[in-house]
Amino acid sequence: MTNPATHFSHAISRRPGASVTGGLRAEDRGAPDPARMQAAHDTYVATLRSTGAEVIVLDPLEEYPDALFVEDTALCLPGGAVMMRPGAPSRMGEVAQMRPTLAALFEDLRDIQGPGHIEGGDILFTGREVLVGRSARTDAEGVAELRTILNEWGHPLRELQTPEGVLHFKTDCSLLDPETILSTRLLDSSDCFDGYRVLHLPEGEEAAANAIRFNDVVLLPDGFPKTAEMLTREGYDLRPIDNTDCALLDGGMSCLSLRFNA
Ligand code: GLY
Repeated sequence: MTNPATHFSHAISRRPGASVTGGLRAEDRGAPDPARMQAAHDTYVATLRSTGAEVIVLDPLEEYPDALFVEDTALCLPGGAVMMRPGAPSRMGEVAQMRPTLAALFEDLRDIQGPGHIEGGDILFTGREVLVGRSARTDAEGVAELRTILNEWGHPLRELQTPEGVLHFKTDCSLLDPETILSTRLLDSSDCFDGYRVLHLPEGEEAAANAIRFNDVVLLPDGFPKTAEMLTREGYDLRPIDNTDCALLDGGMSCLSLRFNA
């Protein structure tokens, strides 16, 4: 049987707009190049499709520069989907833009009402539990509201802490298979992955932590040879994707899609 945390029939993605040059970033290392970003996005979508999944590609939203990072707007799980409530004020409106697409796909669609905040980038579903890291974008009230919904669906939620200065929990980790997590040593040092097999990012390649397992392949940011060698040695079928421009906005592989079974 396939695992709903690694195997998916569907994904949703959104093309970057010209306004992506104004996307949020912790540190300004230059603006992304929209054309190169679109080309990388096309490769990303083609890679998801190559596994047999149906990928819905939404139009850019110029009024929301970060809207291509669709993962932050919702959480899709067996049982239903939950619309998030981003902690970044400039991203709040992205949720209403995503809602109709998910309403057409999920019978049970809930909303985080607030006052708390929570973003999808802080949530890792491993199949056996839902790990949520509090961060500058996700607070205790947001986590508590999500926990109430997930209790109904039978998904245990474990509340954790995203390291200081790290945007999202999944900036620093990824699920490679239901038992194995790729993590920075920094995040794993909190023992948050006890009970899982943990592969540490090689020193200097921590920026490769945000990968995704999607059906039988792993999409990994390109340009991290030690990580690629380690994962290949472990038997994963890698698909390197150019993440140069997304990285300028603190984004990675998971940020670019919602993944689910429909
Ligand atoms: N640039 C992605 C974010 O900060 O949410």
